[in-house]
Amino acid sequence: MGMKQIKTVAVIGAGAMGQQIAMSAALYGRNCGYRVFLCDSFPAAVEKAAKWAKEYLEGRVAKQRITQEEADTVAENLIITQDIDHAAAQADIVIEAVIEKLEVKREVLGHISRLCAADTILGTNSSNIVSSKLADAVEDPYRLMNIHFFNPALVMQLVELVKGPHTSQEAIDAAGMFIRSIGKSPIVIRKEIPGFVANRINAAVANEACSLLEKGVASVEDIDTACEKGLNYPMGPFRLMDLTGIDVNYYVRCDRYADTGDERDKPSPLVVEKFKKGEFGRKTGKGWYDYSTK
Ligand SMILES: NC(=O)c1ccc[n+]([C@@H]2O[C@H](COP(=O)([O-])OP(=O)(O)OC[C@H]3O[C@@H](n4cnc5c(N)ncnc54)[C@H](O)[C@@H]3O)[C@@H](O)[C@H]2O)c1
Repeated sequence: MGMKQIKTVAVIGAGAMGQQIAMSAALYGRNCGYRVFLCDSFPAAVEKAAKWAKEYLEGRVAKQRITQEEADTVAENLIITQDIDHAAAQADIVIEAVIEKLEVKREVLGHISRLCAADTILGTNSSNIVSSKLADAVEDPYRLMNIHFFNPALVMQLVELVKGPHTSQEAIDAAGMFIRSIGKSPIVIRKEIPGFVANRINAAVANEACSLLEKGVASVEDIDTACEKGLNYPMGPFRLMDLTGIDVNYYVRCDRYADTGDERDKPSPLVVEKFKKGEFGRKTGKGWYDYSTK
């Protein structure tokens, strides 16, 4: 099989991630002339995504990042629709970004795999479900992998391609070419592992930060300052946790622990304490820092 030539992209699930992934493909891949379908099974989600895309492009033009003509071309190439079947039949690459439920992903990707060409690349954007858990639901799983974007996908450049035991090298190479063509930086993860690479490293940093705090080695502020001023992190681990949600950290670690039984995967006792108090970070006005006065 030669390298798959990608012309048509289908993003399934028009939520927070799907919108930005589809827009990235249409906007940053505009020199490749991709036709991009952004699909959702819920009419309200389709409507919301269409409104978002229109406003996003207007904003880019207003800020003079792109010309009106470029915005018009992008809008023309970005088709936001409920018709998943039509998009699947045309697509050379499908990126699934529906809700994080195994059964829904199996259903959606299984269905699509029966409608698209046998060499259409199939990617799941899931952060937690490795594509092995979907492979038996999908026709020709050699073209199936995790294609993991980071939030916000229009800004973040990294995309993790996770190769399952069923995934062919050709499919990984074709996905990598596509990701580079939309101005992003793909990395290949050769083995399936929970959290992939970036989130695992992030978790290890957050964990060490909590452990230092627990031991009374330094304050929240000083640990963040160490990372920001000494390691050039854009944001220290506590400030970052406040932004992404201490509750999210809690749930991810509980899930991980349930999976591995490894004590080191448990949430830090300080995270448990914050979780029980309902201090989740910015969204509750208090986390590691107090945001209520700002
Ligand atoms: N939010 C993040 O920070 C982030 C980062 C990386 C990866 N992810 C992954 O991306 C995926 C989507 O996350 P999100 O934050 O965009 O969620 P979201 O809830 O914003 O969007 C999910 C969308 O899927 C749609 N949907 C549900 N069932 C469907 C079906 N059967 N067919 C088609 N569409 C359907 C919903 O209508 C909704 O619009 C998840 O797998 C998540 O793990 C999320």
